[in-house]
Amino acid sequence: MPIAFWRDEYATGIEEIDQQHRFLFGLINKLHDAMSEGKGQEVLSEILVELGQYTMEHFSLEEKIMAQYNYPHLEEHRQAHQELTRDVLKLQAKMQNNEQFLTIELSQFLTNWLIHHIKNEDLKMIEYLRKFRKI
Ligand SMILES: [Fe+2]
Ligand SMILES: [Fe+2]
Repeated sequence: MPIAFWRDEYATGIEEIDQQHRFLFGLINKLHDAMSEGKGQEVLSEILVELGQYTMEHFSLEEKIMAQYNYPHLEEHRQAHQELTRDVLKLQAKMQNNEQFLTIELSQFLTNWLIHHIKNEDLKMIEYLRKFRKI
C-alpha cells in the first residue's frame, strides 16, 4: 500500500521537475512496501541509497533552473536542499551501521520530508517561474 500520494496541487507545470517528483514519490512507496513486506535491511538500505542519489540529482536540476531564471530565493532554497540531503545521508549512515531500522515512522518522516519541501520551497519557486515564463 502506498504511503506517499501524488496530488495535482504538487504539479509545477515543468514536466521534467514533475516527473522527478513523481519518481521520488514512487521511491518512497517502494521503500515503504519493501518494509511492509518484511524485506531485509540490506534491500531497504539499497533503496534509501537510490533515493539519496536521485534526490541529489533532482536538487541540482532545480538549482540550475533557478539560477537560469535569477530566482531571488535561490540561496534559501539551496539551503533547504542541503538540509534535506544531510537528513537522508544521516539516515543512510545509521542504517548501514545498524543503528537505525526502517519503521513506519521513518517512511512517514520521508513522506513528510518530500511533501513539505514540494509544498513550500518548490511551489514558491514554481510560482515565480510561471510568472517569469508567462505560462
Ligand atoms: Fe526543491
Ligand atoms: Fe523538488
